[in-house]
Amino acid sequence: MSKSIFRKKTIERILSDVASGFGDGEHTGDPHLKKELRVRDLTLMGIAAVVGAGIFSTIGEASFQGGPGVSILFVITAITCGFSALCYAEFAARIPVAGSAYTYAYASFGELIAWIIGWDLLMEYAIGNIAVAISWSEYFVNLLEGFHIHLPRYVTTDYLTAYNAHKDMVQMTASHHLADITDKIKIDAAAWSTAPGIGGLKFIANLPALAIVVAITYLVYVGIRETRKATNAMVILKIAIVIGVILIGFFYVTPANWHPFMPNGFKGVMKGVSGVFFAYIGFDAISTTAEECNNPQRDLPRGMIYSLIICTVLYILISLVLTGMVSYKDLQVGDPLAFVFARVGLHNISYIISISAVVATASVLLIFQLGQPRIWMSMSRDGLLPKIFSRIHPKYHTPSFATIVTGFVVAVPALFLNLTIVTDLTSIGTLFAFVLVCGGVLLLPKEEKHRRGRFELPYINAKWIVPVLFIVAVYFFRDFIMEKFTGDKVHENFPFFIFLLLSAALAVVAFIKNLSLIPVLGLLSCLYLMTEMGYTNWLRFLVWLVVGLIIYFSYSYKNSTIAKEHIATGSDEN
Ligand code: ALA
Repeated sequence: MSKSIFRKKTIERILSDVASGFGDGEHTGDPHLKKELRVRDLTLMGIAAVVGAGIFSTIGEASFQGGPGVSILFVITAITCGFSALCYAEFAARIPVAGSAYTYAYASFGELIAWIIGWDLLMEYAIGNIAVAISWSEYFVNLLEGFHIHLPRYVTTDYLTAYNAHKDMVQMTASHHLADITDKIKIDAAAWSTAPGIGGLKFIANLPALAIVVAITYLVYVGIRETRKATNAMVILKIAIVIGVILIGFFYVTPANWHPFMPNGFKGVMKGVSGVFFAYIGFDAISTTAEECNNPQRDLPRGMIYSLIICTVLYILISLVLTGMVSYKDLQVGDPLAFVFARVGLHNISYIISISAVVATASVLLIFQLGQPRIWMSMSRDGLLPKIFSRIHPKYHTPSFATIVTGFVVAVPALFLNLTIVTDLTSIGTLFAFVLVCGGVLLLPKEEKHRRGRFELPYINAKWIVPVLFIVAVYFFRDFIMEKFTGDKVHENFPFFIFLLLSAALAVVAFIKNLSLIPVLGLLSCLYLMTEMGYTNWLRFLVWLVVGLIIYFSYSYKNSTIAKEHIATGSDEN
């Protein structure tokens, strides 16, 4: 038996498994996924997954922290995502199967890392969707208010938010800081005081978030074609609204608001990294539909890259409009786009934006709700999860059990969890997935033949470029680096120290091994953004990984299909 936790699946093996209806003979003749998607659908699905809670919600806090300079963060993040998108595209062209980064890691790093990334993708897809559902609920409740339908606050917020608001209110009242009590604190504290309950135990839960997850899960369960139609319609609407916001908004820009451009310096700009990165997450999610594409090797890379380019342009323009229309100091709100239009007196437009935010975030939910079960399906096919996760519905041709489990995993926490915690976890988890994908491309075997009609990652030799870049960056940012080594919370900069060491090591390896430039830059930029994610967030992320490892060693390691095959054949190789 191959005992190695780094046992790999070759690309040929992965492809032949899919072609033969899944390997062990158990699945041959089973219902299979339908090939319905083309490049236009994929691009629209990419945009559907990307434009959502980030640009309609988390951009507010990021702009408040960074001022107009947040647009620079949108550029930095887009470049980082661009490198990763090219690496995803290379993998998607070589291994067009549903597991996305999980399958890519199985082929390049072996089983343990594949498991880790599968577990980590849960953060991007399921935890990310919890954030999106919470944000959807916020806009939906605003919308209902417009129709004079008022739901009690305790059924539209989470326990922690209500409890914290209650605590803040009590403290501020006791210390006579009444002016600090914002409207939001008042509303959330009211949720606590009006909620029904027994003794100290209160019923406070986000019911609209639950309802939207149930509805979307149903749609995803009944079929890819239905999902595609719904997605295309929603995306066209939301792009139209975003373009409308940009065009109308530019007429209301007061250039004085763009000065100073970085009121809190570069540090302030980087505080928004989690929220801004969250806004870009999603272009990679379409790679989970590889088995439902007509020509995945050509169309998937194009879909990812087109959607990323379109979103980048829209985002940079939106961030400039937003920070140009009002002072950045007013932007710490959950619905910044609607807010700025209301502020300049355009209440009807503000209302239309709220409606489109509800649609936009619903389509993000749809894509991630579609992606998560397909990753589990791939892991189950490899024996790392129970077989039932790869069961395909005989009528709807979707991974039925995995879809229902995804529904529960997203819907239940969405009732109770707090938006910021889940956004931060999603961003760090996704960056980690990008790191592994970029690293994985460096380990892929070189292809001798060029194949027509298929995406190929351009090779640029990193030999001199990366070491020179490293030296230049260290020189120019020497003050910034020195700052990290001083102060009373140096231990919180631990991720940055690791980043420095890894960058130096990569510069050396790039020089010796003539590594490919794009994946190396992807690795470095994602690692850097991870260092900006905050110490507490890192700790939560590490705990998450440890839980994943416990599951791997107690179940998946023993049940891995590859391990079992080796037992059956008496082979001992990896
Ligand atoms: N990028 C997605 C959003 O902003 C996750 O909702």
